[in-house]
Amino acid sequence: MKRKKIKKSAVRKLVLLVVLILGIMFFLINYNSVDKKLERLNYSKEAIKEIKDNKLEATILKQKYSKTLDTALTSKDFDKKNLELYFNIKFNNSKDFIKNINQLAEIGYDDKEINKIFSKVNNKEVNYLTNYTYISDLKNYLDYKIFKTENLERYIKYRDENDNLSYKEIILYVNMNLDKAFYDNPKEVTNPDDLLVLVNKYNKLPEEYEAKNLELIDSKYSVKDMKLRKEAKEKFEEMCTDAKSINLIIKAVSAYRDKDYQSNLYNDYVKDKGLKMAEEFSARPRHSEHETGLAVDVMGGPTGYDLFENTKEYEWVKQNAQKYGFIVRYQQEKENITGYHYESWHLRYVGEKVATYIYENDITFDEYYALFLDN
Ligand code: DAL
Ligand code: ZN
Repeated sequence: MKRKKIKKSAVRKLVLLVVLILGIMFFLINYNSVDKKLERLNYSKEAIKEIKDNKLEATILKQKYSKTLDTALTSKDFDKKNLELYFNIKFNNSKDFIKNINQLAEIGYDDKEINKIFSKVNNKEVNYLTNYTYISDLKNYLDYKIFKTENLERYIKYRDENDNLSYKEIILYVNMNLDKAFYDNPKEVTNPDDLLVLVNKYNKLPEEYEAKNLELIDSKYSVKDMKLRKEAKEKFEEMCTDAKSINLIIKAVSAYRDKDYQSNLYNDYVKDKGLKMAEEFSARPRHSEHETGLAVDVMGGPTGYDLFENTKEYEWVKQNAQKYGFIVRYQQEKENITGYHYESWHLRYVGEKVATYIYENDITFDEYYALFLDN
């Protein structure tokens, strides 16, 4: 009886042991199955199916999880020949992500270049790049915040023609349209009332625009009745008052002009001096800052405005106008940028902050605009 009992319990133990061993074996086999390994790596069920269908287990299990690869595997655009590439591309949730990777790779971009493109260029612009040939120095352009994909072809052409310029200058100058002829298809500004509106040979005021908030300049500081925008007028008078306190006499000789006035002025210039000189000194109507009420031509003491640069008033204006928000707009040696001959007398109101930046960095308002305001 006792022996029977012992035998029974031994059998039970044996059975238990076998079950346990089988269980462990089952667990180990299951644990080490490809499916489980891929699951543990984080691949989705659909991706695992694709991996197995394409017999990619061995390659994929050697690497860390890639969300880009996971996405590629379950996308209709998955291309087996780009398997390694998918591992190295940082995931982003953009439209046609995988299709774009494939196309960029097809053109010749490597993983580093593709990652850079995705980090700097928006999706619409990536499409532009996928339709373009390989650009070996693309990364040099992409480093600049003001890079615009839609200008890429122009950057490349401008660089071919100006190999002395840096990439930064190429981007800046093309964004400023310096690769185009003056007045070639100018853009109508959308912010004519803005104190920082850019009006030049590439940007014009709307045909019917009339400046607002114009106020008469104090007769102490102008040779005849003339107006400026309120903000500019107040700061101009403050500047003239401070100059007067140290015996410097600054007076406005020309300020706000309407379209007809500017038109007559320009046409008279052409008649008197010829087209070439007129273009260097006078803006075509709708292209003059005077039409915004933010520009003023000045004279110093009894000297005519055209000799302003020889006066002590000019010496002071050069060093101090920025404190009142004014800049000398058409500087010497910047003619190729501004499109105008040096005009010591033409002051433009842009506010103290911008004027100070322009003064301290010795740049033009055209450059400032392209660097900080054109987005
Ligand atoms: N003289 C400047 C350029 C103008 O006509 O606005
Ligand atoms: Zn002027």
